[in-house]
Amino acid sequence: MTVTTMTATGRKPLATPSAVLPCALRATLLALLLAAAGAAAAQGNAKQGEYLAEAGGCVGCHTDSKEGAVPFAGGRALKTPFGTFYGPNITPDPQAGIGRWSEADFVRAMRNGVRPDGANLFPAFPYPSFTKISDKDLSDLWAYLRTLPPSGRVSREHDLGLFFRWRPLLTVWKWMFFKPGEFVPDAKATAEVNRGAYLTQALGHCGECHTPRNFLGAPIQSRYLAGGKGPEGKTVPNLTPAHLKKLSDGELQDFLTLGVTADGDVPAEAMGEVIRNTTSKLLPADLKALIAYLRALAPIAGD
Ligand code: HEC
Ligand code: HEC
Repeated sequence: MTVTTMTATGRKPLATPSAVLPCALRATLLALLLAAAGAAAAQGNAKQGEYLAEAGGCVGCHTDSKEGAVPFAGGRALKTPFGTFYGPNITPDPQAGIGRWSEADFVRAMRNGVRPDGANLFPAFPYPSFTKISDKDLSDLWAYLRTLPPSGRVSREHDLGLFFRWRPLLTVWKWMFFKPGEFVPDAKATAEVNRGAYLTQALGHCGECHTPRNFLGAPIQSRYLAGGKGPEGKTVPNLTPAHLKKLSDGELQDFLTLGVTADGDVPAEAMGEVIRNTTSKLLPADLKALIAYLRALAPIAGD
């Protein structure tokens, strides 16, 4: 796609001065254009990347909640105890979005929580979960993001407490709480449970809400998915079998695809959005794997 646009726009200026430009110079220009097109062309599979973006719920945090907002152009407010974050524009616009990023820049942001200028990213962007996404899937995600129409919508500054605004301080936070690295399958678990673990831990980032946090906003790993206070201060249920055994596989599946609870209720909006954007879009085998993984968790009492 990039190559076609390049030639379409490039033909005119290249053709007109052809009479005056020496042949060698024209060849150089053409080579430069082709190199630029080659560098921008993503290697991954954009179609697969679209599915992974759904499994990762990217659109929710990166789209304004206003009616008719441009998907992925940013603006969504995320309230946390540290202040309000606004999901930035991640369309390929060179100024307002991430159009100037390379694939390597993207991989570094997702895996290490670092911006191309070297600044730390805030963990309100769930890279502590996304760090587990495989190289292949990151490449496909990147290919998909490159296909989005660029939007000039300017990202809004986060509205944070004075103390929390300072990105270098995150180096300490990361040193204490962040472990970068791809998902490692559990050799003792089945392939299905490992697939479910990958979808839950890496892409689905379910622990970002379902794992309680300490006062520095870091998930308490010994209570992984055991529920408690969510990021917006409201109680989030326990997903380990200690609590979830009350639901049959069928009820869980209905909840995660149709968004209705066993007693016919509508779930709280935080989860409703996860169902709409993510779990309802999972392929049947992936949803089954996710449920198998939740069933295989060690039960942790209480929430
Ligand atoms: C829970 C909300 C949330 C989800 C889900 C989320 N993001 Fe983000 N993302 C953010 C926030 C907030 C920031 C800004 C972080 C900062 O300024 O340090 C961000 C920043 C980014 C950046 C860096 C942009 C920049 O200009 O610095 C990229 C790239 C990105 N997200 C990609 C993704 C992708 C791809 C997904 C899905 C796999 C995703 N995000 C899902 C909240 C989210
Ligand atoms: C943005 C926060 C958030 C994220 C992310 C999130 N959840 Fe939830 N989840 C909630 C909240 C809040 C509820 C409670 C809904 C209610 O009871 O109305 C909930 C409820 C649930 C329930 C129902 C439990 C019960 O007791 O009936 C299940 C199952 C569930 N979530 C699974 C998941 C899975 C799987 C993921 C990851 C793909 C996930 N959630 C990600 C916030 C979240």
